Amino acid sequence: MTNKYAVITIDGPTASGKGTVAHRVAKHLGFHYLDSGALYRLTALMAQRKNISLDDEASIAVLARALPCRFVHGHVMLEDDDVTDDVRAEAIGVAASRIAVLPEVRKALVDLQLSFRNAPGLVADGRDMGSVIFPDASLKIFLTASAEARASRRYKQLIEKGISANMEDLVKDLMERDARDSTRAAAPLKPASGAIILDTSEITAEQAVNQVLEWYAEAQESK
Ligand code: DC
Repeated sequence: MTNKYAVITIDGPTASGKGTVAHRVAKHLGFHYLDSGALYRLTALMAQRKNISLDDEASIAVLARALPCRFVHGHVMLEDDDVTDDVRAEAIGVAASRIAVLPEVRKALVDLQLSFRNAPGLVADGRDMGSVIFPDASLKIFLTASAEARASRRYKQLIEKGISANMEDLVKDLMERDARDSTRAAAPLKPASGAIILDTSEITAEQAVNQVLEWYAEAQESK
């Protein structure tokens, strides 16, 4: 069942800046925010903690269907554990990308994602927000950037957090993850029909946010 609340979807590859842009757009509009990648990351983290193999589709789907997670003031909770930093780890990103190819796992996360659509509206970021989860979104954006721009952003983020990183490994991981996300049979990463493509290689996050807000205002006017 869909409801009438406005949705802006921001899809794109790893480290394209969609998290930052989506979060700021949501804040500006007073909308809710869904970081759908976090749900795949949480599922992967939980599977690891329970020693479930990342190929065990049926068992991981069971975990995903009843994911005991909460998002509290920017913190990500799994059961009673604050896993905000754990879910952002590179290894969990890679594990998330592996379980994201499993159709039963994707299906198991649908209702949880739909439940974020509340008044006055939602900004959802991920890979298939505009194509599969919210096909009736008011505005669909596909955010992209060159592999080099994305790797250098990821590098800065990691170094700022005190996590050591290596550019060569980052570019390699990023390209492998892009390939896996784009070539999988279930909900591959590609611009949704009707999505506007925004390349952020040469623009700041602020410019990207302003552009999305402008397009949203135009979409509202033309309704
Ligand atoms: O956006 P992210 O890096 O947090 O996402 C982690 C992985 O989850 C990514 O490699 C692909 C997968 N993912 C997905 O398949 N569909 C989504 N809507 C969001 C993330």
